[in-house]
Formats: sequence, C-alpha cells, structure tokens
Amino acid sequence: MSNKKDTFFSTILVVLIVCLVCSIVVSSAAVGLRSMQKANKIADTQKNILAVAGVSSNKTMKEIFATNIKAKLVNLKTGKFVEGGNVATYEQRHEAKIPGKSIKLTAKEDVAKIGRRANIAKIYLVSDDHGKLQRIILPIHGAGLWSTMYAFVALKPDGSTVMGIAYYDQAETPGLGGEVTNPRWTSLWIGKQLFNKQGDVAIKVIKGHAPKNAVHEVDGLAGATLTSDGVENTFLFWLGKNGFGPFLSNVRAGVLNHD
Ligand SMILES: Cc1cc2nc3c(=O)[nH]c(=O)nc-3n(C[C@H](O)[C@H](O)[C@H](O)COP(=O)(O)O)c2cc1C
Repeated sequence: MSNKKDTFFSTILVVLIVCLVCSIVVSSAAVGLRSMQKANKIADTQKNILAVAGVSSNKTMKEIFATNIKAKLVNLKTGKFVEGGNVATYEQRHEAKIPGKSIKLTAKEDVAKIGRRANIAKIYLVSDDHGKLQRIILPIHGAGLWSTMYAFVALKPDGSTVMGIAYYDQAETPGLGGEVTNPRWTSLWIGKQLFNKQGDVAIKVIKGHAPKNAVHEVDGLAGATLTSDGVENTFLFWLGKNGFGPFLSNVRAGVLNHD
C-alpha cells in the first residue's frame, strides 16, 4: 500500500521537476535570444530597404546605413520632418495601433483598408558619397485579397518618379497575388510617374498589359486582379492627403522643412 503511494508521489515529483526544468530552459532561451531577434529584425528591414535604395558599392550593409541612408520621421499631416524624436526606435506599425498617436480612418478615407494610420511615418533618404540626395524611400501598406501587404517604394528626389518597389511582408497566394514580389513585375514600376503634370495622383495598376511607353500605368498581375486592385489602392491612399500627399507636395516644390 505504502509502496503504491510512494510511486504516485515520486511520479508527480518527477513531472514537476521536468516542467520546472523545461520552463527555465524555454524562458532563458526567450530572454537570451531577444537581442539576437531584435538585431535580425533590424537587419531584415535594412535588407528590404537596400533592395530599392540603388546603392551600388562594396561597402557592408552597416557602412551603407552609416553613410548613405538616413532614416527620418515625417509628420504626415504637415508633410514636414519631425524635429527630434527617436528615429532609431520608432515603429510605425506599432504606433498605428495607439489612439492619440494615430488616426482612425473613415470608410471613405480608408481606400487601402488599413483601419488606422500612424501620425508619423519613418522614411529613408538615400544620398551618394558626396551627400547628394538620390532617392526617397517611403513605407506603404494596404490590403490585398488575403493579407495586408507591406512595401517600400523608392522615388527620385522629384517626388514622382518610381525607382523601385519591394513588397517584403504579404500573404497573398504564391503564383497569383504573391507575384507582387516577382522582380519581373516590380521592374515594370521603374520610371513610372506617380503624379500627373497637375500634381494629381495618376498611377494605375490596370488589368492586362499597360500600353507601350505608358508613364502612369503598370500591368496588373495575371489571375490576381483583386491583389492588383489592392496594390493600386495602397498607392492611392499613401500618395493622397492622408498619406504622403502633403510631404510629396513639399518634395516636389523643393521644400523639405522641419515642423
Ligand atoms: C485558391 C485561390 C487563391 C487565390 N488567390 C488570389 C490572390 O492571391 N490574389 C488575387 O487577386 N486573386 C486570387 N484568386 C483569384 C480570385 O478569386 C479572382 O478570381 C481573381 O482575383 C480575378 O482575377 P483575374 O480577373 O485576373 O482572373 C485566388 C483564387 C483561388 C481559387
């Protein structure tokens, strides 16, 4: 009888010890790997920015970010740079969830179907080795068919000519909407004009093929019209007055001021 009781308590004790050891191992791994995860996240963002930055040099990624690429915070309402603020730690995606640091978009405003928009955006200015501005990289996002699609778009300093786009976070169907990452499609964007001569948003993602030499039209993705519409709506929102519209109109006017 007492033997049975002993076995029962020993079993419980072993289970508890195993649980305790496992939880210590898992929590130590989580804490110990945190700094590595943070570093990997930064490296991943930098890799995506580099994809559209057009910096060709034999410098390391760290050196390029130290000398050629500068992150800046933009007040989306005024279209001006934010004075101060911790640009290194600013996370636009996180801020968009915080009332007071973001706005809730009305159904009419929310063409990209993002719900809320952070008041401040983090952009990147790419300069050559002499400090001359070469590209402006803007973060944009909007709904596709299945997912919110995140991208960087690089513009010439004229604030209208596209130099590259890179979708880096999306969950559209591979082979259909997932073709937003296909370099054959993203290369079609190079040289397109986002705005017309009157300064109105003019970029369009059309079903089928864009006419030869079209400056505002980009081919839609075959079999993925809904994702293609999502891409166009993402651009319409982020180039509009609730997105980078005020900032880009300052850029096009040649005035890049602080608040
Ligand atoms: C399993 C499955 C996955 C699909 N994934 C996508 C997608 O990621 N993006 C998209 O636009 N359409 C997707 N579609 C197709 C849409 O339902 C729709 O037919 C298509 O967007 C229409 O585009 P089209 O007019 O170019 O054919 C998918 C369809 C199926 C059956």
